[in-house]
Amino acid sequence: MKHLISTFDLTKGQVDYLFRLYTEFKGGRQEKLKGDVALLFLESSTRTRFSFEMACRNLSLRTYWAGPRESSIEKGETFYDTVKTLSSLGFRALIFRVPFVLFPYDSYLKESISLINAGDGSHQHPTQGLVDLFTAIEVYGSLEGLKVLYVGDIAHSRVFRSGSHLFSMYSAKVGVVGPRTLLPKDLTPFGVEVVFDDITTALEWADLVIYLRLQEERFKENYIPSKESYFLQFGLTKERYKKLKGFFMHPGPVNINVDIEAELVYTEKSLILKQVENGVYVRTAVLYEVLKDA
Ligand code: CP
Repeated sequence: MKHLISTFDLTKGQVDYLFRLYTEFKGGRQEKLKGDVALLFLESSTRTRFSFEMACRNLSLRTYWAGPRESSIEKGETFYDTVKTLSSLGFRALIFRVPFVLFPYDSYLKESISLINAGDGSHQHPTQGLVDLFTAIEVYGSLEGLKVLYVGDIAHSRVFRSGSHLFSMYSAKVGVVGPRTLLPKDLTPFGVEVVFDDITTALEWADLVIYLRLQEERFKENYIPSKESYFLQFGLTKERYKKLKGFFMHPGPVNINVDIEAELVYTEKSLILKQVENGVYVRTAVLYEVLKDA
């Protein structure tokens, strides 16, 4: 595996192998790699950015970070020229988070530098998809027949696009519920089996619920009447929490009292901090797999 752009590029065998590596790193496996890794984050990030940096350092890789104002992209340089420049400087990998999608990716993948997607627009966030999958396997064991429900802003969610078909690959059943204005027209590529009309029926069905962040920064029109009405219709309230059969996840950051009521974020049915903790080992496994042979 030279790059990680999308979870759709991964076979079940590759995901199984990444899970084994992840388990080994979580269990204390130590490895040393050589070289430099660039982190170019044109969108904000706490979890992904710091856990990728920790993963690089766990593997003895040197890290160089640039935000939106620290690269010549601010002066109009294209992402393509940025990739070529970093490749010429000898960077082994570029971990990128960007507000756009780099279609066609093929033109970027010919460079010697490895590309690792840390979130591109609403397209993909592959390591978050792997975090959610691996956390669910740890907590539930086999995912065969497990009912996984994504709640909320499905249309703008790269977390949903990365994770849902991974759950489906592991024979889980995937359902979605959210405002009709925030559901993509065609959900079949993502392995979705059930689209619910109301949250109560959806929660009764689900064994694991993944709340998504309402991504207002990507809204081009008024998709919902208000955040208050969204919370009342879809958010995790105390009443709904009591009815959850299993655990819930959220990739973070949480819109407090919009996606989830404040007091519920770190309760016993919450896997949010486990997802954060596991992020370091998932990213260590991915970096190791991408860079170990080169
Ligand atoms: N889950 C996630 O991508 O969080 P950050 O935006 O904080 O990296």
